[in-house]
Amino acid sequence: MRVDIRADRKRPTILVTAGPTREKIDPVRFISNYSTGTFGYEIAREAKRRGCRVTLISGPTWLEVPRGVKVVRVESAVEMRRAALKSVKTSDYVIMAAAVSDWRVAYPQKKKIKRGTARKRLELVENPDILKDLGSKRGRVLVGFALETEDVEKNAVKKLKEKNLDFIIANKLSPGGSVFGENKPSLLIIDRSGHKTVLRDKTKRESAKIILDKILNFNI
Ligand code: CTP
Repeated sequence: MRVDIRADRKRPTILVTAGPTREKIDPVRFISNYSTGTFGYEIAREAKRRGCRVTLISGPTWLEVPRGVKVVRVESAVEMRRAALKSVKTSDYVIMAAAVSDWRVAYPQKKKIKRGTARKRLELVENPDILKDLGSKRGRVLVGFALETEDVEKNAVKKLKEKNLDFIIANKLSPGGSVFGENKPSLLIIDRSGHKTVLRDKTKRESAKIILDKILNFNI
């Protein structure tokens, strides 16, 4: 059922995260991933179109922010976490589409590391799991993504439970291919009661609509 809440008096507030994070090595280098941010931006656009109040916490991307969407630009996972914890308090729905780096550099350098003087190893420390932190604060619908190269369903269900989510949206990285930038990734949506939906051959814009239909219909 297509949900359009413009007629309702209370407009739901949606927090969407999108894009990659960048973890600084020195002022000119970073660790990141191939995320383009497209999915999160499509979800934000569609939610706004349906009359929701939308905050988009975005890692670095070249994408245009959909009109009427409030954007908070961040770079690192730690910055994204700070912004998410602030916005979550006033959100009815949280959709964590960002590709958060699992690690950051232990000792980012203030000056450019010169050739020859570079250490041969980068020491990494684990980043906080933003979604898991949000999952401990119930009272809103929480949606996570899972990017897997194997055992998609098993790993997605594990994340759904461990992060205390209402929905997980899983996609499989095809051998030799990349989900990031792929316009029609196959998706598996699982809700907390175990109900599964497979989306195939849909653009990210089409998938964003189906995902919002499910989420906005969901009662906590
Ligand atoms: N996520 C997060 N904070 C992190 C890592 C991931 O909030 N530090 C969120 C992502 O935005 C996504 C979900 O958790 O919604 C799953 O991310 P994914 O990278 O698939 O899984 P991880 O939890 O990082 O586990 P693994 O890398 O071991 O598969």
